[in-house]
Amino acid sequence: MLGFTVAIDGPAAAGKGTVGRAVAAHFGFAHLDTGLLYRAVGAKVLDGMTAEEAALTLQADDLEDDQLRTNAVAEAASLAAAIPAVRAALVDFQRSFAMRAGGAVLDGRDIGTVICPDAPVKLFITATPEVRAQRRFAELSAKGAEVTLEGVLADVQARDARDSTRAEAPLKPAADAELMDTSTMDIETAVARAVALVAARLGV
Ligand code: CDP
Ligand code: CDP
Repeated sequence: MLGFTVAIDGPAAAGKGTVGRAVAAHFGFAHLDTGLLYRAVGAKVLDGMTAEEAALTLQADDLEDDQLRTNAVAEAASLAAAIPAVRAALVDFQRSFAMRAGGAVLDGRDIGTVICPDAPVKLFITATPEVRAQRRFAELSAKGAEVTLEGVLADVQARDARDSTRAEAPLKPAADAELMDTSTMDIETAVARAVALVAARLGV
């Protein structure tokens, strides 16, 4: 199983983490939400550190911060993620995670294209911006955040545009990625499809 990696990419709030966690639980693989790495860097930038220094000094417990899920941190993460030195500082950790014994699921923006271009399973999960904004809005409102649907939609679209057009590791499907549009798909169906793809590749 060494190096059996499931690479999941896609835009904001498409369901990457939800599907990634469920696939990992199903097969007993480890799961890494790589967005948390960039969010942790973004949080440190908001606290006054440079993005490069934050990326170079990132610690495991920086990923446990409850404040990483806010829109302000997501925006700071996306700005930091466009800096090549920040991305470079995070590559080794992600590749080591992908190569761990027992299999791994990584989700992010550049897993199938840059971090694990040889991953045996690559998924690109999308949904319309309106559906994704609605999901993120519901999630943030449930946590008590003062947000509007229009505001979340604008944030999601601005972030996707920046992530897709940056020079370094832009968000795009790998040529060999399986595309999954979850706009009208519930979580159970999305997870079942992803599990079936992995099972087929594993031959189980
Ligand atoms: O990781 P990513 O930002 O792509 O999305 P997520 O955190 O997995 O999902 C964002 C929200 O959408 C969560 O609250 C999920 O429960 C929800 N979701 C959904 O309603 N339907 C799906 N097919 C996938 C996710
Ligand atoms: O949860 P959501 O999909 O909204 O965002 P995330 O996965 O937590 O990622 C936050 C930001 O980190 C993204 O908007 C990207 O700018 C950046 N990111 C990246 O550049 N590469 C990755 N592999 C993961 C995230």
